[in-house]
Amino acid sequence: MKLLVVIAFVAYVASVWGNFVNIRSIQENGEQKIENKIEEAVAPLREKIRDLEKSFIQKYPPVKFLSEKDRKRILITGGAGFVGSHLTDKLMMDGHEVTVVDNFFTGRKRNVEHWIGHENFELINHDVVEPLYIEVDQIYHLASPASPPNYMYNPIKTLKTNTIGTLNMLGLAKRVGARLLLASTSEVYGDPEVHPQSEDYWGHVNPIGPRACYDEGKRVAETMCYAYMKQEGVEVRVARIFNTFGPRMHMNDGRVVSNFILQALQGEPLTVYGSGSQTRAFQYVSDLVNGLVALMNSNVSSPVNLGNPEEHTILEFAQLIKNLVGSGSEIQFLSEAQDDPQRRKPDIQKAKLMLGWEPVVPLEEGLNKAIHYFRKELEYQANNQYIPKPKPARIKKGRTRHN
Ligand SMILES: NC(=O)c1ccc[n+]([C@@H]2O[C@H](COP(=O)([O-])OP(=O)(O)OC[C@H]3O[C@@H](n4cnc5c(N)ncnc54)[C@H](O)[C@@H]3O)[C@@H](O)[C@H]2O)c1
Repeated sequence: MKLLVVIAFVAYVASVWGNFVNIRSIQENGEQKIENKIEEAVAPLREKIRDLEKSFIQKYPPVKFLSEKDRKRILITGGAGFVGSHLTDKLMMDGHEVTVVDNFFTGRKRNVEHWIGHENFELINHDVVEPLYIEVDQIYHLASPASPPNYMYNPIKTLKTNTIGTLNMLGLAKRVGARLLLASTSEVYGDPEVHPQSEDYWGHVNPIGPRACYDEGKRVAETMCYAYMKQEGVEVRVARIFNTFGPRMHMNDGRVVSNFILQALQGEPLTVYGSGSQTRAFQYVSDLVNGLVALMNSNVSSPVNLGNPEEHTILEFAQLIKNLVGSGSEIQFLSEAQDDPQRRKPDIQKAKLMLGWEPVVPLEEGLNKAIHYFRKELEYQANNQYIPKPKPARIKKGRTRHN
């Protein structure tokens, strides 16, 4: 009897165990299926995240890695403007830490948007007329409207930017022991009586004319640099920049290159003020940027002209731009503008000798790039939209532009 009970008990336990094992395996199968389903749903999302990460990484142009010893903390005032944004590109790609300070009077975020978020880059919305407290090794002081309609729009503000703004930046340079490069201008020579203009020419400026807020503002900014150098030992560099052109220059800024390109692209008459025999010499922006960096890193503390000495009459420019655009626009002659310099051509012997610098981009090559830029801008305007694209990584070509 006892034996029968034991057998029945063992049979019972065996059947319960069997059921348990069965249920476990059903459960495990079910769990496996759910896991597979989840995996199927998640896999494409994972793929998307990977793509997003990739496009995020590719967003920035390639940047060199510099050791702490070589990497500089660089402030660019006016860095969201035309020249400043190209300088930002160069210094970022060279591997430095760049802080752009701009009040966006004539600059715009779009000019530097491709660096926003990069660990070496910072953009500060700030007016240089107010003091700034940051730690830097070098200051490129470019903040100032540069084209006549912009600097004449609010002459008092132009004066404040070039005087109080420059004092503030020199004060910062003194405080943190930074070197400061002032973006001065060929306008310090005014309507020159000597030709070409070398750095020891003192200029011919009308102190109360419509351009005086800019010309005299820059002249006194230079004076301030040398006062800080002599009195406080601040290291200064002064670049006297001649007419520069290229992508990101302002549409409708009233300067001859942008005027002619826009007029030619839109089939409007190319307006020449006066006879068109007045001359100008234009440098492409990448040449200027290379010159600014060479000057900053040189031991030349006196002013240096940076410009292209290849001189053309305004009429020649009009004709060349018309041809490059392939435009049927006419050339229209208007009355001469007040205080418009008759001739402007830099003497760049000093830059050649002391910096080993000279412009290398041919005029037509530069003009074609500027025309391409303006054409695109007009397209955005016509479509009433601009959609920023993540920038694919650009590989630098091995061609050197400077000796
Ligand atoms: N482009 C040229 O042909 C040329 C020629 C000679 C000298 N420069 C000098 O080079 C510098 C840059 O010129 P650009 O052509 O790039 O002009 P730009 O107008 O494109 O750039 C000037 C930048 O300074 C900013 N700015 C103006 N006032 C400011 C203020 N108070 N605080 C902070 N930011 C301010 C503007 O918003 C702009 O981003 C200027 O100092 C100009 O005088 C240029």
